[in-house]
Amino acid sequence: MSNSNAIELHDVDKTFYTRHIFQKHEDTGRRRLYEKRAVHAVDRVNFTIERGEVFGLLGPNGAGKTTTVKMISGLVRPDAGKVFVDGLEVERKRLKVLRKIGVVLEGTRTCIWPLTPLENLSYFGNLRDVKGPILKQRARELLDFIGLKDKMNVQVRRLSRGQKQKLAVCIALITDPPVILLDEPTTGLDVQSSRAIRDKVIELTHERGKCALVTTHDMAVAQSLCDRIGIINHGALVACKPTDELLDVFSEQTFEFRVDRLPALDGLAAVPGVVGAEPCPEDDGPAFLLHLVQDEATRSAAMYDAMDWLRGAGCLLRSITRRQQTLENVFLRLTSEPRPARPDGE
Ligand SMILES: Nc1ncnc2c1ncn2[C@@H]1O[C@H](COP(=O)(O)OP(=O)(O)O)[C@@H](O)[C@H]1O
Ligand SMILES: [Mg+2]
Repeated sequence: MSNSNAIELHDVDKTFYTRHIFQKHEDTGRRRLYEKRAVHAVDRVNFTIERGEVFGLLGPNGAGKTTTVKMISGLVRPDAGKVFVDGLEVERKRLKVLRKIGVVLEGTRTCIWPLTPLENLSYFGNLRDVKGPILKQRARELLDFIGLKDKMNVQVRRLSRGQKQKLAVCIALITDPPVILLDEPTTGLDVQSSRAIRDKVIELTHERGKCALVTTHDMAVAQSLCDRIGIINHGALVACKPTDELLDVFSEQTFEFRVDRLPALDGLAAVPGVVGAEPCPEDDGPAFLLHLVQDEATRSAAMYDAMDWLRGAGCLLRSITRRQQTLENVFLRLTSEPRPARPDGE
């Protein structure tokens, strides 16, 4: 594997088999022991994450995000393909890989409830050979940044769900690991805490050269945190690009024109290169949206023609802005596609 990649997945595949014991058969109505049922959770996924990079894995529920995180941390064994962490093959060097990883798994009870946050951090630090003054200092710094300092001596079972989640993030970071895996870390957190985690991840990666894989449903977090984004649907990676590029590729080339009065938009829509024209809500004076073709040369000609047309119609042009595509729209578009048919008929 290449030197700058901290995580590599090559054609990783995982199918879970479940048995449904004594369920009613749909046709006969008889209860019986079902045969194995297969769920193809991760479908030949490839991606790499460089040192110093935040990679976001986005996908709807059941898409295969948690399974992917578990395969990187050695908790689930892939059926096929290889996973490398910091140059080590996970399958063969599990213990060494575990030492390099700090992981928060969604909905897992990571912390010990009868202990306090400080005691939890001491316990998990000691387990992983972080001791003495370094442990103390790191624990206090982590609790401080995440806003748990005033709860550091309160038993975990008395903390809220969000506070437990914050502690889980601190536990993952207590060993100062080079590879950070955060499975839905901001779910259930308030805006400040989610922002604190985002800032910390950016500091650890961009400034200190660690690598982070973050799965999230929160598009705002993904858009402002991740350098690159992979979108996973039905176990398959349907897009994987730098965040800006991903937004650009799916950008519809829509421009918002602010004018002194709304012209007859049918005439404008007839200009070559214009795909459509529609009025937009008038919260800041009259305005309309112009949808243009993707091709750059044709689009440029259409812009000139549209402006000539507006001048001809006697409109005063106040401003033109390009509508930025949001990650949420891109995500919805990509994940609304049906599962692609597989050649082997699965
Ligand atoms: N241990 C398991 N046994 C059986 N099926 C599983 C297991 N873990 C996950 N799955 C199934 O694999 C699919 C992907 O799950 P998961 O990776 O948890 O998705 P996500 O984290 O994207 O919501 C789901 O259909 C889920 O039901
Ligand atoms: Mg999950």
